[in-house]
Amino acid sequence: PVHVKKICCIGAGYVGGPTCAVIALKCPHIQVTIVDLNQARVDAWNSKDFALPIYEPGLEEVVRQARGRNLFFSTDVDKGIEEADLIFVSVNTPTKKSGVGAGFAADLNYVELATRRIATVATSSKIVVEKSTVPCRTAESMRTILEANSKPNCRFDILSNPEFLAEGTAIADLFSPDRVLIGSLQSQEGLNACASLKEVYANWVPNERILTVGLWSSELSKLAANAMLAQRISSINALSAICEATGANIDEVAHAIGYDTRIGPKFLKASVGFGGSCFQKDILNLVYLSESLHLPEVAAYWRQVVEMNEHQKKRFSKRVVDTLFNTITGKRIAVLGFAFKADTGDTRESAAITLIKDFQSEKAFVNVYDPQVPHEQIWADLLEASPHLSIESIKKQVNISPSALEACKNAEAVVIATEWKEFKEIDWEAVYAGMNKPAFVFDGRLLIDAEKLRKIGFTVTTIGRPSATLQS
Ligand code: NAI
Repeated sequence: PVHVKKICCIGAGYVGGPTCAVIALKCPHIQVTIVDLNQARVDAWNSKDFALPIYEPGLEEVVRQARGRNLFFSTDVDKGIEEADLIFVSVNTPTKKSGVGAGFAADLNYVELATRRIATVATSSKIVVEKSTVPCRTAESMRTILEANSKPNCRFDILSNPEFLAEGTAIADLFSPDRVLIGSLQSQEGLNACASLKEVYANWVPNERILTVGLWSSELSKLAANAMLAQRISSINALSAICEATGANIDEVAHAIGYDTRIGPKFLKASVGFGGSCFQKDILNLVYLSESLHLPEVAAYWRQVVEMNEHQKKRFSKRVVDTLFNTITGKRIAVLGFAFKADTGDTRESAAITLIKDFQSEKAFVNVYDPQVPHEQIWADLLEASPHLSIESIKKQVNISPSALEACKNAEAVVIATEWKEFKEIDWEAVYAGMNKPAFVFDGRLLIDAEKLRKIGFTVTTIGRPSATLQS
């Protein structure tokens, strides 16, 4: 096997950036260059004051240690490709917006463009690693493209090495992954390439956590893992609806079922719905795959996980309206949190976007506050969610507040949309004093101590718990 000395990563996003920064940190003998076409993003990675383009706890520390030593960020994609002996393809694979499979299939255009660039530029052999989440058998298309365009004496080996990090805990996940998965062809060349990549991870990941499998199993495992994770959320959310209607408490139910070692306690938190760039996209991808394979029942099964998630968001907005005496027209609602989960600035598919859109269409006023999401991002997301509206008309209804306390001023209701720790620690007495009465709190994340807030005077509504009238 080749001993890897230079790595190039194409795509300096949420996955490529943290993943390869950690490789550089843990492998000082390997030069790692992360390339991207997006100049602003690369500039931010290179910024003197470490104003990095993404927020992840611990990331800045890693970049501070490795940048300039053996970690580089650049827009010179060709040079990065040319120099490397191993190339990660870590570009975005969003859901297709038009054409065949629109709304379900993954848009593989970015993967294909990056692959073609590798074939055009490379003058020596490379190991090409699929890091992006892709449909099963994409590696085969990549190999065909590479082989059809390669120069003499250039060979390409393709590996699949999906990323399992979770945003918000990316650095901890990368330092100590549950497992690293590497898929390869089972030919001698394929196994050699696999050994080369395994050697990189072995610098800090224990051997028994590096799993090596066939290419297609590896590709499908990523889609399967996300589908199973999202399915758990939709299952607990479906149960939360039953709790609200019966008087059961979803926290108690989750606790009780989590004691079963076959189920386990993790990832059983009911919420206003999952978000993020991956779960929905990857399930829809699996749905599309199932349909293309003439397995309509399998497709319908997985599709229901996404439909339950949509239902959960709608159910929550409806509960807000119902509780506020069936109308929120002209009322001010504070939405705390805009990121799709805590400890990230990422807003892709965030439940907050849907909630605010619902409140807008009920003609409410919204104050939104998030500790990490840049204002431009909030405006861009709200505009994308309501393309028929102008930014001016959105700004008439929505206002971005500088703090949680400020957001709650003169509001009728507070909606917790993201589980930021700081929302737990707000001075709720002060919030109460500044609000119109009766003052309502809707906890979409099972974050706050409802009893404590009730003592202050709030009317509290919690996901997975019945409204006051059913409580005993
Ligand atoms: P991202 O959108 O943050 O980053 C992708 C980057 O690739 C962008 O900066 C874009 O400019 C760049 N790019 C696209 N085409 C390029 C080209 N031809 N040459 C150079 N740069 C190019 O996306 P993110 O979130 O990092 O996701 C990347 C992949 O990883 C996706 O397939 C995603 O499904 C997968 N993934 C994402 C996870 C997450 O938590 N965000 C977790 C695990 C996998």
